[in-house]
Amino acid sequence: MSRAGLDKDPRDVAAMFDGVARRYDLTNTVLSFGEDRRWRRATRDAVGARRDERVLDLAAGTAVSTVELAHGGAWCVAADFSLGMLRAGRHRKVPLAGADALALPFADGVFDAVTISFGLRNTADPDAALAELARVTRPGGRLVVCEFSTPTWRPFRTVYLEYLMRALPAVARRVSSNPEAYVYLAESIRAWPAQPELGDRIRAAGWGEVEWRNLTGGIVAMHRARMPALRRARLPARDQAPPGALTGE
Ligand SMILES: C[S@@+](CC[C@H](N)C(=O)[O-])C[C@H]1O[C@@H](n2cnc3c(N)ncnc32)[C@H](O)[C@@H]1O
Repeated sequence: MSRAGLDKDPRDVAAMFDGVARRYDLTNTVLSFGEDRRWRRATRDAVGARRDERVLDLAAGTAVSTVELAHGGAWCVAADFSLGMLRAGRHRKVPLAGADALALPFADGVFDAVTISFGLRNTADPDAALAELARVTRPGGRLVVCEFSTPTWRPFRTVYLEYLMRALPAVARRVSSNPEAYVYLAESIRAWPAQPELGDRIRAAGWGEVEWRNLTGGIVAMHRARMPALRRARLPARDQAPPGALTGE
């Protein structure tokens, strides 16, 4: 069975998720002691989608995160580049789309809200993914990123890192169809930026009003942001506008 490296080669990442798809939902719930359900509800509340809104759930995998978002009646699409993950979620009553986060097959500004749960860390270029999310969001639209992060209380952080690097792969060996993928999970979480740095990277991708909230002591962080009503022009290098130039939308 395959696992990706920390270079996050897209073929390896997609193949790795194809390999865990069948038991993905169950494994998640076991390894997180059921906390995953709470994280999904918190993400749904943060997105706050209204009935008449269009929402993109990027890196949606089996669409388990998408059905939660769609509870309020909004139109929510699950997009992912692992067809194995999408296939494992095809019984769920939401639209599914094969899509690469780094080159989304959607027009500019079509979504009222975009969200990505436990997916950004797995992309080969998270900054490019954040910029693509910005491109497809309307001015004033919202972003919610739910991702593993850094526990804030040092003693808890030590225990958690121990669980991550030792116990989690051992438990995964019993429940997952591809235990090696959970060694990658542990390594990729350890290498992921902490809350303030991710906030800076979201801002650098063109988002405004960036803020975050810790869940389960910071094991997970939920970053929220808004697309400014006036978005900074992103022009080809030869046509660069003067610094600070803005375009009306
Ligand atoms: C840990 S799963 C998260 C699934 C779901 N959002 C959830 O909360 O359970 C990460 C997902 O990210 C997807 N992914 C990683 N890189 C991607 C990319 N560049 N484009 C689209 N999906 C990607 C993987 O295929 C995988 O399904």
